[in-house]
Amino acid sequence: MALLSVTDITARFGGFKALSSVSLEVGEGELVGLIGTNGAGKSTLFSVATGYIPAGSGSVVFRGEDITELAVHQRVRRGLARTFQVPREFSQMTVFDNMMVAARDQRGEKLANLLFARGAIREEEERLAQRVREVLAFLNLARVTDELAGKLSGGQKKLLEIGRLLMLEPSCIMLDEPFAGVNPVLIGQLCERIVELNRRGIAVLIIEHNLAELARLVPRLYAMDRGQVIASGTPEAVLADAGVREAYMGGVI
Ligand SMILES: Nc1ncnc2c1ncn2[C@@H]1O[C@H](COP(=O)(O)OP(=O)(O)O)[C@@H](O)[C@H]1O
Ligand SMILES: [Mg+2]
Repeated sequence: MALLSVTDITARFGGFKALSSVSLEVGEGELVGLIGTNGAGKSTLFSVATGYIPAGSGSVVFRGEDITELAVHQRVRRGLARTFQVPREFSQMTVFDNMMVAARDQRGEKLANLLFARGAIREEEERLAQRVREVLAFLNLARVTDELAGKLSGGQKKLLEIGRLLMLEPSCIMLDEPFAGVNPVLIGQLCERIVELNRRGIAVLIIEHNLAELARLVPRLYAMDRGQVIASGTPEAVLADAGVREAYMGGVI
């Protein structure tokens, strides 16, 4: 059974059909790519899978549970979380506080239960702070722990975005164009960290515009065009697919 199954998803923006019967699966611990031209519907698919946009029809099943109707935080609590194409850091807060907030947001309920147990709250905060330090070290951001997030480079903001995601202790992460606007050196570092996360058992679905870049990273990928999945399989098979070549007009391969 797949870890995440998105089946026959349709989504509309007014009269515009952004997704038409899209199906996609991510297996336990798998590293999967999603490519497609601008406007193909990739980000919209992430939004539907993670609960930011309601599905018009179809289903999202995670760990065998139908989560189609669940709110974002309920999906996060089950281990499914995403990043955004444009990082959403709080620019006037430090990197450390950005990470703490990401974790607290998702633990609101749990913390509320601890309201009358100050010691327990302090323990939980210390545990989170420890985890923040671990994740920042893992992402090579330890040096900027106390910097304002707004001062980071584009690439560092992408890393912070992944860091905020990791505070949620997810089992499946969906990364929306993590390499866009990042310099080549940092792209190499990002790839390496993503592979390492995957090696530790986190399933990854990653959107990337650049087909060649993604083909080096993932053993399996999907291609979307105009709201539909048009091909899936090994990078070689997808790159050779006539429909994919046509969608890209031979431009990026
Ligand atoms: N909030 C929205 N309102 C209206 N149209 C949208 C919205 N979000 C995306 N779209 C449209 O849906 C299509 C798919 O967008 P998107 O999922 O962002 O594509 P991709 O991520 O593949 O580039 C595009 O035509 C886009 O203009
Ligand atoms: Mg997008």
